[in-house]
Amino acid sequence: MSIDLPLLGRLFGLAGRNAIVTGAATGIGRRTAELFAAAGAHVAALDLNIAKAEEFAARVRDAGGQATAIAMDQGDPDSIRAAFEQVDATLPRIDVLLNCAAIYPRCNFEKATTAFLDRMHAVNVRGVFQCTQEAVRRMKATGGGSIISISSVTALRAGIYDNIQYGMSKAALNAMTQSLALEYAEAGVRVNAIMPGGIATEAAIASTQVGDPLRGPFLQPGRVPLGGENAEPQVIANACLFLASDASRFVTGQLLAVDGGFLIS
Ligand SMILES: NC(=O)c1ccc[n+]([C@@H]2O[C@H](COP(=O)([O-])OP(=O)(O)OC[C@H]3O[C@@H](n4cnc5c(N)ncnc54)[C@H](O)[C@@H]3O)[C@@H](O)[C@H]2O)c1
Repeated sequence: MSIDLPLLGRLFGLAGRNAIVTGAATGIGRRTAELFAAAGAHVAALDLNIAKAEEFAARVRDAGGQATAIAMDQGDPDSIRAAFEQVDATLPRIDVLLNCAAIYPRCNFEKATTAFLDRMHAVNVRGVFQCTQEAVRRMKATGGGSIISISSVTALRAGIYDNIQYGMSKAALNAMTQSLALEYAEAGVRVNAIMPGGIATEAAIASTQVGDPLRGPFLQPGRVPLGGENAEPQVIANACLFLASDASRFVTGQLLAVDGGFLIS
């Protein structure tokens, strides 16, 4: 058997591909956008935090890669439409959409107001639906693509207290993923979701302080079989690259937990 290193590049590389990453300014989205760019993709970073998205794009370009920052408020339908018009002006086609932008404010179940519920739904569900709608139309017209949504283990299993609406919003992404995968398989569009466990981003650390009695079972020491309460964003980026690339060309409709075994514990 000979070792074919270029084969790895063909399987896992994204050279010549265009990838949209929402929520690319910080955290998991940022790390994944960096990996996609390193794998050869032109990355369009769509984010509310345009300053950080611009900083990401400038760093990639300085390193010889391709990236563009585009302002988008995922909670605002007009802003999403405008962002995809800008995508059209920048990229000839979309090969990959990574839905990563989301918010996760926690709120006691009995105290949750309709305004809180509506905001969470607007960003985490309606906005992801609309971004996916925009991308899928374009992918269908150009012969296919890969859509990946960042869900959460909390879609399937209670883990953090005061977090019910968030888990509901991610369960909606799981449902969208499996239905879309079936409806768009013929069009060559693969649709998958990743359910991260605890990932040590600044936002996650801020929302689940050590010593907080409401952290819940998910974040108790010893609950993650592979060890540690929080893994680094790179573990999610790795799974995203697999689902974005040809290495996963026979994979669709999957909800992949990247959680150190939390869901099976
Ligand atoms: N960190 C974890 O432990 C964890 C676990 C499970 C799932 N997730 C999911 O991973 C994703 C990234 O989380 P993170 O921890 O990296 O958080 P983060 O806050 O660092 O990243 C979220 C990104 O989304 C952007 N964003 C927020 N609201 C937006 C809006 N209205 N329009 C456009 N962009 C907006 C932010 O600017 C930021 O760049 C989210 O979908 C989150 O639900 C995270």
